[in-house]
Amino acid sequence: MAFLAVYLFYLLAFGSSSSNAAAQINQVGVCYGQLGNNLPAPSQSVQLLQKLNATQVKLYDANPKILNALIGSKLYITVMVPNELIINISSNQTLANQWVQNNVIPYYPRAMIRYILVGNEVLSYYFKPLWFYLVPAVKRIHQSVKTFGLSNVKVGTPLAIDMLESSVLLPSNGTFRSDIAGKVVKPLLQFLNQTNSFFFVDLYPYFEWVSKPNTISLGYALLAAQNKTFKDPVSGLVYNNLLDQMLDSVVFAMKKLGYPSIPLFIAETGWPNGGDIDQIGANIYNAATYNRNVVKKFTAMPSAGTPARRGVNISVNIFALYNENQKPGAGTERHFGLLYPNGTSVYDIDLSGHTPDSTYSPLPQPTNNKPYKGKLWCVVAKGASWNQLGRASNFACGQDNRTCEAIRPGGKCYKPNWLVLHASYAFSAYWAQFRSSGATCFFNGLAVQTTKDPSYLSCQFPSVNL
Ligand SMILES: *[C@@H]1O[C@H](CO)[C@@H](O)[C@H](O)[C@H]1NC(C)=O
Ligand SMILES: *[C@@H]1O[C@H](CO)[C@@H](O)[C@H](O)[C@H]1NC(C)=O
Ligand SMILES: *[C@@H]1O[C@H](CO)[C@@H](O)[C@H](O)[C@H]1NC(C)=O
Ligand SMILES: *[C@@H]1O[C@H](CO)[C@@H](O)[C@H](O)[C@H]1NC(C)=O
Ligand SMILES: *[C@@H]1O[C@H](CO)[C@@H](O)[C@H](O)[C@H]1NC(C)=O
Ligand SMILES: *[C@@H]1O[C@H](CO)[C@@H](O)[C@H](O)[C@H]1NC(C)=O
Ligand SMILES: *[C@@H]1O[C@H](CO)[C@@H](O)[C@H](O)[C@H]1NC(C)=O
Ligand SMILES: *[C@@H]1O[C@H](CO)[C@@H](O)[C@H](O)[C@H]1NC(C)=O
Ligand SMILES: *[C@@H]1O[C@H](CO)[C@@H](O)[C@H](O)[C@H]1NC(C)=O
Repeated sequence: MAFLAVYLFYLLAFGSSSSNAAAQINQVGVCYGQLGNNLPAPSQSVQLLQKLNATQVKLYDANPKILNALIGSKLYITVMVPNELIINISSNQTLANQWVQNNVIPYYPRAMIRYILVGNEVLSYYFKPLWFYLVPAVKRIHQSVKTFGLSNVKVGTPLAIDMLESSVLLPSNGTFRSDIAGKVVKPLLQFLNQTNSFFFVDLYPYFEWVSKPNTISLGYALLAAQNKTFKDPVSGLVYNNLLDQMLDSVVFAMKKLGYPSIPLFIAETGWPNGGDIDQIGANIYNAATYNRNVVKKFTAMPSAGTPARRGVNISVNIFALYNENQKPGAGTERHFGLLYPNGTSVYDIDLSGHTPDSTYSPLPQPTNNKPYKGKLWCVVAKGASWNQLGRASNFACGQDNRTCEAIRPGGKCYKPNWLVLHASYAFSAYWAQFRSSGATCFFNGLAVQTTKDPSYLSCQFPSVNL
């Protein structure tokens, strides 16, 4: 409680400069994800953020080494309360206070912590058990922030676009999912309104485009087709990019719940610079184009805002600082970085918005803006550590007892009985069988997609046929 006493004294002595309206300034920053085993140290990472001219940084936790490295940096900082703590914090003010005391107070105000996000995308289906604890936990953390007198720290929670049940292709129809609208989103909006905080959203035009590449033009998703417009038939508003449609869909959804003017904050956006062979549009050219256009849009003075909110400033964080080699899922997940893990840029980008595109080095032309057509296999990656192959193969073969029949004794692919061949067979067979239900060809980096048929003699490897 010593810290608490010091802060109460500070409050009494100097008063709290409570700002009423959320200062809505244009800030462009970067999400500093750490799911890689080859990333630069925090102190070097802070230097790299500054070199990129970021003005803010978002963490997915409150990592002490990173926060220490950020002391004195002038970067606005977002820290995050992990999802795992939400249930306990929701009913325990002592625990909320303890979290703020341990994760914010030691660094504040020398590290410029400005936002505390409670949880990450908690209203997505996957986190259903947490839904009804979210707002109570947000309120507890806000209470702690008040108790400690952190008057310039805003509290909120970032939500993914699956918060909406409507399509972002018709912004005026923006509607929150009915399973969360009344019970969770409305109380959240009421809290954000009362505390002058932001509605934090994670918006990826990339994923919208990937799901409908024949309906949405790529340039429109990349904010690169200023002349291509869509007029919303209900609102009459005219759009020239997909990100604005996503932002306004959220605006209209909030309006429906009675909160038309809560400011938005893009907690995350981005575009992958690479991915797997079966993924489209993930390349350096598109990533550079999208992120540069985002920087241009959100550093413009005066602000463009969105069609529903002309001229309004919006802060944004680009995901992510690095390509992160330990993110699970499809290849794109590991290729959102502005930087490679060795600290060099994947492409030129100046987050201050002061560098004109024409001065950047030329970009490699995209080769995967159209879907790959043909067969694909999933084989052991170069450099995969052999001692992990057995377990991965067992997993691949364990989902269905028919998957790996061919590499059992007597099977067509049993001989030669080599670990790497059998593992490649298991990966290919598993992926071919389960890709349509979401299986990926990754196995923690042990596997990679290939266009080269690994079949031999009478052993045919199952393929994915695109
Ligand atoms: C937008 O943010 C800039 C700082 O980036 C500030 O100077 C300006 O007043 C803000 N505009 C509005 C309308 O809030
Ligand atoms: C939450 O509280 C329960 C009961 O006090 C405890 O057993 C559990 O470990 C706590 N969970 C976390 C993630 O701290
Ligand atoms: C609340 O959290 C504090 C601090 O972690 C813990 O000591 C206490 O047991 C918790 N109270 C309840 C009712 O779980
Ligand atoms: C509007 O969104 C609802 C879902 O909230 C959907 O059922 C309806 O079809 C949409 N209307 C139009 C015109 O797209
Ligand atoms: C948009 O239209 C204007 C006028 O028709 C034209 O000069 C400009 O080159 C077009 N821009 C793009 C990016 O197509
Ligand atoms: C809060 O809600 C009231 C009533 O709708 C509105 O007048 C006010 O502008 C809102 N404030 C914010 C910050 O959204
Ligand atoms: C950094 O990593 C990238 C991607 O692996 C590589 O192309 C580049 O040559 C590396 N640069 C240096 C200086 O090591
Ligand atoms: C950051 O801004 C400075 C000053 O405007 C500029 O010289 C530098 O090139 C910018 N950094 C990047 C990575 O573009
Ligand atoms: C394979 O699995 C099915 C369904 O689980 C089971 O009925 C069958 O006996 C299994 N076959 C072998 C050879 O284990």
